[in-house]
Amino acid sequence: MREYKSYFRPEIEAMAGYTPGEQPKVSRLIKLNTNENPYPPSPKAMAVLKDFDSTRLHRYPNANADEFCEAVAKRFGISRNMVIAGNGSDDILTISFRAFTSEKLSMACLEPTYSLYKELIRMQNAKMQTIKLNTEDFSLPENFLEQSQGANLLIITRPNAPTGNSFPLEKIREICEKFDGVVLIDEAYADFTSDNCMELAKTMPNVIVSRTMSKSYSLAGMRFAYAVGHPELIKGMYKLKDSYNVDMVAQKVALAAFEDIDYLEKNVKAIKETRARVANKLKSLGFKVIDSESNFLFVSPPDGDGENYFTELRKENIICRYFPGEITGKYLRISIGTSEEMDEVLRITEKIYKKS
Ligand SMILES: Cc1ncc(COP(=O)(O)O)c(C=O)c1O
Repeated sequence: MREYKSYFRPEIEAMAGYTPGEQPKVSRLIKLNTNENPYPPSPKAMAVLKDFDSTRLHRYPNANADEFCEAVAKRFGISRNMVIAGNGSDDILTISFRAFTSEKLSMACLEPTYSLYKELIRMQNAKMQTIKLNTEDFSLPENFLEQSQGANLLIITRPNAPTGNSFPLEKIREICEKFDGVVLIDEAYADFTSDNCMELAKTMPNVIVSRTMSKSYSLAGMRFAYAVGHPELIKGMYKLKDSYNVDMVAQKVALAAFEDIDYLEKNVKAIKETRARVANKLKSLGFKVIDSESNFLFVSPPDGDGENYFTELRKENIICRYFPGEITGKYLRISIGTSEEMDEVLRITEKIYKKS
């Protein structure tokens, strides 16, 4: 047999690939590392799943998730041709990178931000411009537009990950007006904020807003998301998506979850209350806590050693996400779990920092 040699494109060969948050097999673990929702999906969504007629699975699904996209269009008062569904927002992002970046067309995004973007840009063999957030509070820098200049795709993650903070809506509007390219606003955490950018996607020709069902709707395991934008932008994205990118079961379940607004609101309210309580307590213990508009907190312990805090929590079966780096290494990202889980986090945290 011939010896293996690489058949990959050089840029793919050089890629490390995206590292997803750990999905541990140990069951007695408080899992706060991937910003999942600690509560189950809507009972109405679970009923749809239970009653799903699996004999129908021999047929392909509706190729464009029409029923779901129509529900989105109705909710936001837009036309059907302004909506596309995806197999999670990672799929929406992949489609967008294919559409708007190439060797000649670069992408700009925040630093720090969601780490998948830098993998997707490598696949395109395209260049990435990073716009460093102010280190003190992760707010937008004064010269934001200057730093994004020349890119064809600008991704604004609002609220941002892993920092959790949002950015002033008026500032985002101004950026969208002045930026000469497509602005993709990744609103994975929009339901946990006080405002959002949907109006910009509805009214501006260069803005796309992407939303996921993974976080506020408790459907991370199902993989479902959607994006809204100008009909011409969305039309181009349809050309690039996988032919049947969202499966039949997910379309039905996601629709039921999307329409159960009462459940969504109840769930989001509980998470926001827990978030405020945990943030206050950590501040009283001497932590620096970045103002969060998401379902997680980005916090720096009194000694500024995020890795040590991660390790100490891990010893107690609490798993969070640590991001090494000069700035991010001082922090730990903690997803908001149930009230009881967060009580345990606070109890252990008090124990750790009383020792030192
Ligand atoms: C900012 C951001 N965008 C997108 C995603 C991916 O979400 P999805 O589960 O919809 O692929 C995440 C997941 O953590 C995220 O933090």
